[in-house]
Amino acid sequence: MFGMLEEWPRDDQEGLAAVWKRLEILLETHAEAEEKYFYPELVELGTGGADADSAQEEVADAIKDHNDIRKAIRKVGRCKTGSAAWWTAVTDANVYNSKHMAEEERQDLADFRQQATLELRHEIAVRFLRYESVKASAGIAPKDKDPDAYVEAQQRKPTSTTAKAASRKKGRKPAKKAASKTASKAAAESD
Ligand SMILES: [Fe+2]
Repeated sequence: MFGMLEEWPRDDQEGLAAVWKRLEILLETHAEAEEKYFYPELVELGTGGADADSAQEEVADAIKDHNDIRKAIRKVGRCKTGSAAWWTAVTDANVYNSKHMAEEERQDLADFRQQATLELRHEIAVRFLRYESVKASAGIAPKDKDPDAYVEAQQRKPTSTTAKAASRKKGRKPAKKAASKTASKAAAESD
């Protein structure tokens, strides 16, 4: 989803805000679910995977990482969507999240896979998925449509400007490339 944002048209603020909102929900439900179901078990069973000193250090570090991601998320919320400050905060969230996930895979999850039974891992995974789904499932109210009427309505519609643009193969100027976005100094230097 960070990749989606990076390629998103920079002038589509509504789209940027919507993609970011989904990502924000995913980041927090994921972190909270880990803190509720995974980390308590890792503190009990872990031994310190890879370059971690201990399970306690592993977990404390993961919670600190989650807080760094939360801090960046709050900063995104304070900025105007699509502004330079907004992009810096989004990139900070990306940097903190990428570093965290690499460490989590290398230490916490690898450690837990070695120490916990398959049954416990399965139990935690189901609880984790349930929590994430319950929290993220507000969604939209479903509304039935008549299949034939739907198809007819689409056929009556004029070709969209997007489809027209996409079908123009020759003589089309390439879209202006969006510059890559950079993180703040603090995020870039964090470990
Ligand atoms: Fe995490």
